[in-house]
Amino acid sequence: MSNKPKILVSRAIFPDQLAQLEKSFEVRFNQADQVLTPVELQKELSSVVGALVTGSERIDASALLNVKDLKIVANIAVGYNNFDVPAMSAAAVMATNTPDVLTDTTADFGFALLMATARRISESEHWIRNGQWDKWSIVHNPLGMDLHHSTIGIIGMGRIGQGIAKRALGFGMKVIYHNRSRLSEANEKACGASYVSKEELLRTADHVVLVLPYTPQNHHTIGASEIALMKPTATLINIARGGIVDDAALAKALQSGKIFAAGLDVFEGEPQVHPELLKCNNIVLAPHIASATEKTRRAMVDLAVENLRAALDGKKPPSLINT
Ligand code: DGY
Repeated sequence: MSNKPKILVSRAIFPDQLAQLEKSFEVRFNQADQVLTPVELQKELSSVVGALVTGSERIDASALLNVKDLKIVANIAVGYNNFDVPAMSAAAVMATNTPDVLTDTTADFGFALLMATARRISESEHWIRNGQWDKWSIVHNPLGMDLHHSTIGIIGMGRIGQGIAKRALGFGMKVIYHNRSRLSEANEKACGASYVSKEELLRTADHVVLVLPYTPQNHHTIGASEIALMKPTATLINIARGGIVDDAALAKALQSGKIFAAGLDVFEGEPQVHPELLKCNNIVLAPHIASATEKTRRAMVDLAVENLRAALDGKKPPSLINT
C-alpha cells in the first residue's frame, strides 16, 4: 500500500506530466480516455484527496455524494460550467480552472474559424475533393465575405474576446462588442472596441463572434429571434460553449439563407452534433479544439497541477474559483 496521497486524473494527459505526478501521488488514471460515467466519477471521487478533470466531467452534488477527504477538483479548462460551484463549496471542495494560459491560442483559433467560415475554406476543399473544380471562374467559384474593413461584433469581452478584437484591428476591422459590463476606457482603447447593445451588435455586425461563458442565464443567447436581427450576409462564430446558440434554430437559418454562414467549435450536447447542422454546406465544424495546441494543452495541465498541489499543501490555489 502506497502512503502517497491518492488523486484522480480523469482523462489522458501527456505521459511525462503523468510521470511527474506519480512521483508525489498515487494516481488513479483513466488511461482509456473515456468520459467517466456519473457512477464511475462518484466512486472515483470518494477515495481521493484531489482530482484533475476536464469540462466533460460534471462535478455536482451527486458526484460529491460520497466524498470524504476530497479537497480540490482542478478543471483543465478555463470554462467551468461543468462545476456546480455552490455544491462544491458546500462540500468544502476547492474549485479551480485554467485562465490566461489558453487565451492567445483560443483567440488565434477563433480568428482562423472566422476566416475559414467567411471565405468558405471547408466548402472549397470539399469541392476539390469531390472533383467539382473544373475551371477558374469569376462567378462560379465559392464566393465569400471580406473580413478587412468589415465590422466584427464580439459578444463576451473577457480575455479571449479582447484577444480576438486585437487580431481584428490588424485586419482593419471595426470592432464593436457587447458584454455584461463595459471594459475600462483604457481597455476599450487597446482593443479599438466600442460598446453597443446586443441588438445593435446583431443588426450591424458583419461577423458575430461568441466568446461568453455558459451560464443558465446565457442559454440560447442566440436563437431564432436574435438570428432574425442579423444581416443575411453575416457570419456567426461560436467558440464559447454549446447551449449559447440554439443549434436547431441556427440550422434552419443556414438552410434558408437567413445568414451567410457559421463556424462552430462547440455544440449543444457535444460530441453529438445536431443532424440538421450536418446537412448545411455553409458551415465550418470543429471538434472543440480552440485550445488544442500541444504547448497550450500542456500549460493547461501544468496550471491545473499547480492548483492541485497548492490546495493539498494547504495554500491558496492560483486560480481558485470559490473562496
Ligand atoms: C476551456 O478551456 O474552457 C475549453 O473550452 C476546453 O474545455
